[in-house]
Amino acid sequence: DAKTNLYVTTQSDIQHLLKPRKKFSHKGLYGHALLLCGGYGKIGAAVLSARACLRGGIGLLTVQVPQAGYTILQTAVPEAMTLTDKNRKHLSELPKEIDKYDVIGIGPGLGTERVTKTAIGQLLATASHPMVIDADAINIIASSDKLKMQLPRNKVIFTPHPKEFERLVGKVKNDYDRLQHLREFCLEYQCYVTLKGSHTAIGTPEGKVYFNTTGNSGMATGGTGDVLTGVITALAGQQYSLEEACLLGVYLHGLAADLALHAVGEVAMTASDVIDFLPKALLHLS
Ligand code: APR
Ligand code: MG
Repeated sequence: DAKTNLYVTTQSDIQHLLKPRKKFSHKGLYGHALLLCGGYGKIGAAVLSARACLRGGIGLLTVQVPQAGYTILQTAVPEAMTLTDKNRKHLSELPKEIDKYDVIGIGPGLGTERVTKTAIGQLLATASHPMVIDADAINIIASSDKLKMQLPRNKVIFTPHPKEFERLVGKVKNDYDRLQHLREFCLEYQCYVTLKGSHTAIGTPEGKVYFNTTGNSGMATGGTGDVLTGVITALAGQQYSLEEACLLGVYLHGLAADLALHAVGEVAMTASDVIDFLPKALLHLS
């Protein structure tokens, strides 16, 4: 609705966004993503984001993990190139040639150690990439006005769950208040926010809000958020605008879970099942 700037995404809207692959194409056309995810005890978050990013169609994927994650990543995700941090347990530095990546996804499983805060400060000060910022990277930025001031305009997608969102914008009184905060935050920082929930709301820098229509309560299980980070990172690294990456990514993520429902049901569903059904979700739309 153009008057209220509130929209609901339908399958036909989303289908229009999906770009078919060209016959004479090569991996260089589909982007090189960098994921900065995983900390000691939460390397699985990096595995889930990485696998989802590959299923989202990225051309090349590099994942940087702390040393403790090296063997895990190389074993669980052979398609990804793995860099290791000098720190054993936590993100503490940026990779050397950061300019060669088309997109950066950061946050799942990172933890909020001081060294990680410093690395995120360096990232915001130096990088001008499109960035998908989730989980502990949101928590770190939310806790520092200085970091918030450094956010590049029109480059950032935040993917908070409701608690992470409140850390970013302050206490929310009710659903209407949440919507107001969503609009104001996106306008103020000229960023995109996918506010996750049973109907994920996507806010844009122009003040639009889209409500997603896919997904089910089988997704209420640890790791499904990390999968969304990977999918949106993949799309932002291919030739989709940030708005398209949010709309298409959230829709596909929910659709994959809806298709997984027939195979595994809501109770047994895991984040890995959502990844496994991303190919079917893509086929369903094309
Ligand atoms: N219906 C539809 N979608 C749902 C539902 C539901 N009932 N419940 C959850 N989802 C979807 C959300 O929209 C979102 O895409 O599942 C995903 C959950 O994402 P997160 O909340 O980020 O969960 P995740 O990160 O996987 O879980 C670990 O637990 O303690 C927290 O902060 C910690 O982020 C960490 C999270
Ligand atoms: Mg999460």
